[in-house]
Formats: sequence, structure tokens, C-alpha cells
Amino acid sequence: MARLHLLSLSLIVLSISYSSLSQGPPRPQLRANAQAFLDAHNNARAKVGVLPLKWSAILESNTSLVFQNQSGLRSCSFAKLSGTTYGVNLIWTTGPLVSPQEAVTSWVAANKYYNFAHNSCLSGQQCGGYTQVVWNESLELGCAQGLCADSALTICIYNPPGNTVGEKPY
Ligand SMILES: *[C@@H]1O[C@H](CO)[C@@H](O)[C@H](O)[C@H]1NC(C)=O
Ligand SMILES: *[C@@H]1O[C@H](CO)[C@@H](O)[C@H](O)[C@H]1NC(C)=O
Ligand SMILES: *[C@@H]1O[C@H](CO)[C@@H](O)[C@H](O)[C@H]1NC(C)=O
Repeated sequence: MARLHLLSLSLIVLSISYSSLSQGPPRPQLRANAQAFLDAHNNARAKVGVLPLKWSAILESNTSLVFQNQSGLRSCSFAKLSGTTYGVNLIWTTGPLVSPQEAVTSWVAANKYYNFAHNSCLSGQQCGGYTQVVWNESLELGCAQGLCADSALTICIYNPPGNTVGEKPY
């Protein structure tokens, strides 16, 4: 039986604007900093007694594919993630890339809205980014960051996926 997983999206809009670009179609630039992403995730997991994630080159290449698909776009978009069998956390920014630490911190910050005893999130808030970071059954992580012409995207994917509806993260 298929288990239902919630896809969590985080949105941070930075107010830094780009100067207008020169000619030519924009090419997304790829950047991944595995250790920084891993450390930020595993620090958050250690705080709640959950074992660390391992980096997966396959997951990293999957996130990189998303950016390659966006080649030529002015704005990065969230497109083409529906149907994935992985857990996904995303941050879209109108300014330059956030650091891996900032990206993960933005997901983990929702822990103040998360009620573990009731496995619930304060009304109007999104806790899915946080619960995916600390999801005990997720074992592997891959992240990538990409720059489109006027925006930037950070994606982390998780295997197996977390946020199974009706289950606690740990
Ligand atoms: C992830 O990448 C692997 C190897 O590159 C590929 O076999 C797999 O189909 C990809 N998965 C998704 C969901 O794109
Ligand atoms: C890339 O785009 C193709 C064609 O739209 C789509 O089939 C594929 O799933 C996309 N892959 C990723 C990783 O977004
Ligand atoms: C977390 O997963 C490990 C095995 O991967 C398991 O031994 C442990 O009991 C789990 N912890 C919780 C709190 O579910």
C-alpha cells in the first residue's frame, strides 16, 4: 500500500536584486557543498537523538538534474518534482544563493511550531521542512543549489522519504 508523504516547500525571499544580465540564455550554475549540508542536518538530528544521514552521490545527481532541466529559465522554479519517490525540501530566493547552513536553518527553525507530543504544527505554519530533516527513517541525503538568471534554488532530497502522514518523525 502506498504511503502518503507531504512535500514541504520553504520560501525565503531575499531583497537583494540582480543587476540586469548581459546577452545570452542564462545557464544555471551548480554548486553543492556536501559536508556543510550534512553537518547542518546531522546537528539538528543529534539534538533530538536521531542518527546521522549519509551523503548520497545518486541523490545529489538527482537534484542536479532538476537544475539542468531549468537551463534557460530566467527564474528557477519548483517544477518537475511531483511524482518523486524521495522526500524534498526546497528554498527559492530572489537574491543570490543562501549558504547550506542558512538553508537548513530555515527548515529547522520551524521546530518552534512543532508539537512532538501531538505530532502537530501550529496553525498557519509549516513544519514539514523540519520534520523531514529529523525524520528517523530517512537515511540518505543529497542536495544541490542552482542559480538561474534572477533567482536561486536550494534542493535537498531524502531517501527513504519522511513526512509519512500519521507518523511521528522519531
Ligand atoms: C536518480 O538518479 C538515478 C541515477 O542517476 C536514477 O537511476 C534515478 O532514476 C533517479 N531518480 C529520480 C527520481 O529521478
Ligand atoms: C526533466 O525534464 C523531463 C522532461 O520534462 C522530465 O521527464 C524529467 O522528469 C525531469 N527530471 C527532473 C529530475 O526534474
Ligand atoms: C530510529 O531508527 C533506528 C534504526 O534505523 C532504530 O533503531 C531506532 O529505534 C529508531 N528510533 C526511533 C525513536 O524510532
